[in-house]
Amino acid sequence: MMKQLLSPFLILLIFFHLCTKTSGQSPASAPAPSGPPDITALLRKAGKYTTFIGLLKSTQMDVQINSELQKKSDPGFTIFAPTDTAFSNLKPGTLNSFTDQQKAALTQFHVVPSYLSNSQFQTVSNPLRTEAGGDTVEFPLNITTNGTQVSMTTGLVNTTVDDTVYIDGQLAVYEIGEVLLAQGILRPPAPPPLPPKNASPSSNAPSGSISSSGDFSDATCLRYAPTAISYGVAILVALTLWL
Ligand SMILES: *[C@@H]1O[C@H](CO)[C@@H](O)[C@H](O)[C@H]1NC(C)=O
Ligand SMILES: *[C@@H]1O[C@H](CO)[C@@H](O)[C@H](O)[C@H]1NC(C)=O
Ligand SMILES: *[C@@H]1O[C@H](CO)[C@@H](O)[C@H](O)[C@H]1NC(C)=O
Repeated sequence: MMKQLLSPFLILLIFFHLCTKTSGQSPASAPAPSGPPDITALLRKAGKYTTFIGLLKSTQMDVQINSELQKKSDPGFTIFAPTDTAFSNLKPGTLNSFTDQQKAALTQFHVVPSYLSNSQFQTVSNPLRTEAGGDTVEFPLNITTNGTQVSMTTGLVNTTVDDTVYIDGQLAVYEIGEVLLAQGILRPPAPPPLPPKNASPSSNAPSGSISSSGDFSDATCLRYAPTAISYGVAILVALTLWL
């Protein structure tokens, strides 16, 4: 009996531990001048990504990307950078109406946690997993190619890769003509299904959400928090009755 109760507690503990760890990340100090590229610096040099740079900074995504890139073993990143024109083509007030969580999800949706060269787009398997989470139903991103033309769709937005801003074998930054929107960004997250009973912590975790790179995002935490909490309350009630 005690063993059965222990495992849900473990799940809760691990869950909150991960959330706290990610939220508590402190900004890294400035990278060494000759080190890996600084994502915001190279975008600033291109001169037409002011809004996207602002999002990367306000969500601390820039810090996360820069620090991951310092690790030689990192699989790298592919970043789809919408131009300022792309942002100004959004329905007026869209960005201002977004909560911080939505802005974080929006930014993460433009970041793929692996390096993709132009030719790799031809063999990529859809849907791509972005930093916005392992849930590709709420955050679908599909890439198709036709010759050198690279197109992508989220179901809500179709756009193309218009230019290569930067590429170095570990980091690829591509210009896109539209801001990528997804259901998971636009609507408040639906409550996730309750985890199956007797699930072990490892099989219970959504694949891809928990990774060593710390991309278990705050958005993910918020989404699963209500479930975790109600699960916890149920366990406590059960415990009380049992005792
Ligand atoms: C691919 O491009 C060619 C030439 O630009 C065009 O004729 C063809 O319809 C395109 N195919 C698809 C599937 O879009
Ligand atoms: C993306 O591709 C997958 C696999 O081919 C497909 O099931 C899904 O419907 C596609 N989603 C969109 C938005 O095109
Ligand atoms: C995106 O492209 C697909 C197929 O090319 C089309 O069916 C869909 O209506 C387009 N969606 C938008 C939002 O333009």
